[in-house]
Amino acid sequence: MRARIQAGRNDVPDRRPSGIDSQPVAGMILVVLTIRPMTEDDLDQVMALENTIFSSPWRRSFFRSDIGRPGGCCVVAETDGRVLGYAVAWGTGEVHLANLAVAPSARGQGIGQRLMDEVLAFGRSNNAVSIYLEVRQSNTIARQFYARLGFVPIYVRKGYYENGEDAVVMEKELKEARTEE
Ligand SMILES: CC(C)(COP(=O)(O)OP(=O)(O)OC[C@H]1O[C@@H](n2cnc3c(N)ncnc32)[C@H](O)[C@@H]1OP(=O)(O)O)[C@@H](O)C(=O)NCCC(=O)NCCS
Repeated sequence: MRARIQAGRNDVPDRRPSGIDSQPVAGMILVVLTIRPMTEDDLDQVMALENTIFSSPWRRSFFRSDIGRPGGCCVVAETDGRVLGYAVAWGTGEVHLANLAVAPSARGQGIGQRLMDEVLAFGRSNNAVSIYLEVRQSNTIARQFYARLGFVPIYVRKGYYENGEDAVVMEKELKEARTEE
């Protein structure tokens, strides 16, 4: 399994809508967001986000190898041709969320949740028992985000990141979620 070196960014103070193309309709804002498989054509935009968001970004080749990978889920959130976020996960019995990011200007609008809904659906459709991820100890926003989705911290990987920071491993049981439905 390829370890994802993830950045711990907590610089998301402004949660007001701003980054999604929108159209005013009778006094309302209509936003069309599509979650779909990532393609090679998305890679320029994905890499621009990856390089902006993470201090140790994935290489283009990492994403390329995940596009269309059997047993994987590699998706983007797109509106009107603009990629606003992406998620990469793989695995069958246990799904590993390897990458997740939303454009800084598009955060706080439910896009991360929509991407995670897709990853969770991928896990459930593969009868996965659980889904897990690593997140920087200092990345409180992401930890809150995952906690709200039902992930719980299960252990700490000491010195997991390139700067020596610990990773919190968080897990969500999918079987349990299925029986509750
Ligand atoms: C973590 C991340 C993907 C969340 O994406 P997002 O689209 O902003 O999240 P959503 O709008 O779907 O938020 C869903 C829930 O997460 C929580 N949440 C999200 N952002 C939050 C913030 N800044 N502060 C507190 N809670 C937050 C809230 O509970 C929110 O639900 P609510 O809006 O009903 O209160 C995004 O902040 C990001 O890309 N961060 C940088 C990259 C990163 O850290 N990736 C994860 C690495 S492990």
